[in-house]
Amino acid sequence: MPEDFAIIDLFAGPGGLGEGFSQAGRDPGAPMKIKLSVEMDDHAIQTLQLRAFLRSFDEFPQEYHDALNCGSPLPDWADLYPANWKLAKEEARQRVLGESGVFEELAVELDRTREDYNGNTILIGGPPCQAYSLVGRARNKGKAGYVPEDDHRHFLYREYVRILDRLRPAAFVMENVKGMLSSQVDGGGIFSRVLDDLEVAGDGYHLLPLSKPAPSDGSRAAARDFLIKAEDHGVPQARHRVIILGVRSDLAKKIELEGPILGSPQSPVTVAEVLRDLPRVRSGLSRGDDADAWLAAVQAQASAIAASDAAPQEVREIARAVAGANRLPRLRSSSRRKRSGELPAQLADWLLDDRLEVVLQHETRGHIPDDLGRYLFSSAFTRAFGRSPKLAEFPEFLQPAHRNRRSGDFADRFRTQRSDRPSTTVTSHISKDGHYFIHPDTMQCRSLTVREAARLQTFPDNYLFCGPRTKQYHQVGNAVPPYLAFQIAKAVRRLLG
Ligand SMILES: C[S@@+](CC[C@H](N)C(=O)[O-])C[C@H]1O[C@@H](n2cnc3c(N)ncnc32)[C@H](O)[C@@H]1O
Repeated sequence: MPEDFAIIDLFAGPGGLGEGFSQAGRDPGAPMKIKLSVEMDDHAIQTLQLRAFLRSFDEFPQEYHDALNCGSPLPDWADLYPANWKLAKEEARQRVLGESGVFEELAVELDRTREDYNGNTILIGGPPCQAYSLVGRARNKGKAGYVPEDDHRHFLYREYVRILDRLRPAAFVMENVKGMLSSQVDGGGIFSRVLDDLEVAGDGYHLLPLSKPAPSDGSRAAARDFLIKAEDHGVPQARHRVIILGVRSDLAKKIELEGPILGSPQSPVTVAEVLRDLPRVRSGLSRGDDADAWLAAVQAQASAIAASDAAPQEVREIARAVAGANRLPRLRSSSRRKRSGELPAQLADWLLDDRLEVVLQHETRGHIPDDLGRYLFSSAFTRAFGRSPKLAEFPEFLQPAHRNRRSGDFADRFRTQRSDRPSTTVTSHISKDGHYFIHPDTMQCRSLTVREAARLQTFPDNYLFCGPRTKQYHQVGNAVPPYLAFQIAKAVRRLLG
């Protein structure tokens, strides 16, 4: 009988990493399940609790699918299945790591889990990354008096290390943004400090890269080798993240590695392949929206682009077609799934749920008419030239009235996702506006919906994000792509035997 492993997920967000590990753990030959996940955000914790509840059944309860398929609110689970709901709330805990008393409370749980599972535990998680991310750093630089050493977010990874030290799991997986490789504090690189701390935690860990072969002499891999490109592993998104695998020293001695742990790169999956079967929907007008008003606004923008000498001929032609089109979508949300069978087979298995008859959280945002014109221009340009236009290439009448627009910092302010390749990184910025995530279909003239962003992140279609729409986007953008996490989980579990 293969041994069962318990997973502890820290800074769990909406549970992207945890979803991959949970699904991998359903294999009876490599059992593992989440015992505890810790997250502080009000909405992400609801998402985690719902998922923990659903997973507590062999098959999701019929009431879940019934509610989703009918578009009705979810039942009161505490009333319907009190024992499962109670367990879910114990599993997914809303706590602020680093706050007084939290470690002490969790330590009791960690000790018990290590004992119950005979040491067979795996720690996963990604400490928050705003302080390391390149965008976050640029923003911090602009803050008067910003001192990196005083930003506690630089040191939240120590909460992870503290728990690692206490739990002494068989293995851990830590995820972070690429910026962690180059972030500096106290005149030194934070990354080497993180690796040093991870290496000596508990009984000591051997740190392994996942997509590059580990050095054969047992030395530490080069920092850049810890970078993983999600698009090399079947994810329709160019998302580059640092992922460190640590295997407890006593176990690492027994492992013989040949080649990269995650295997060779797979062929890329494109945006079109994962979005094509979702219903076509129109964007909205942020004021006075209805289908006719929207149509009139889009066609006015399309006519202006078609008539503009500043727009390339190819773009003007596409705009002319939009201006004269009589079959633009009229609905802003649609739950009716198209069955086009376009999804690559392994992703179809991963994303689709036969019991789900509808598309969840596929509702568009409203925009001002000027942004509709920019989206139209950007998506038409991308279709014509195979790249998203720089801001300087937009005709003057579509230029935003932003005083810094000529600085070059906003050159990619509007970005259409190309349909014929993986998307760019879906970040939590998508919660602020959709300008970086314009849908490639000019006729829909809009940014991506939550479900489309979730598809690019490889969240299964039955994954429901709790909270208002901006919070749903935020959760999606924060996560590790579950399908990547699934592959990591299988590989790690295989190593542990
Ligand atoms: C990058 S996200 C993690 C994503 C997650 N690994 C996934 O795959 O879905 C980081 C999360 O840490 C949470 N967080 C930040 N500081 C925290 C703290 N002190 N305690 C608990 N959670 C925290 C944030 O709310 C955010 O959801």
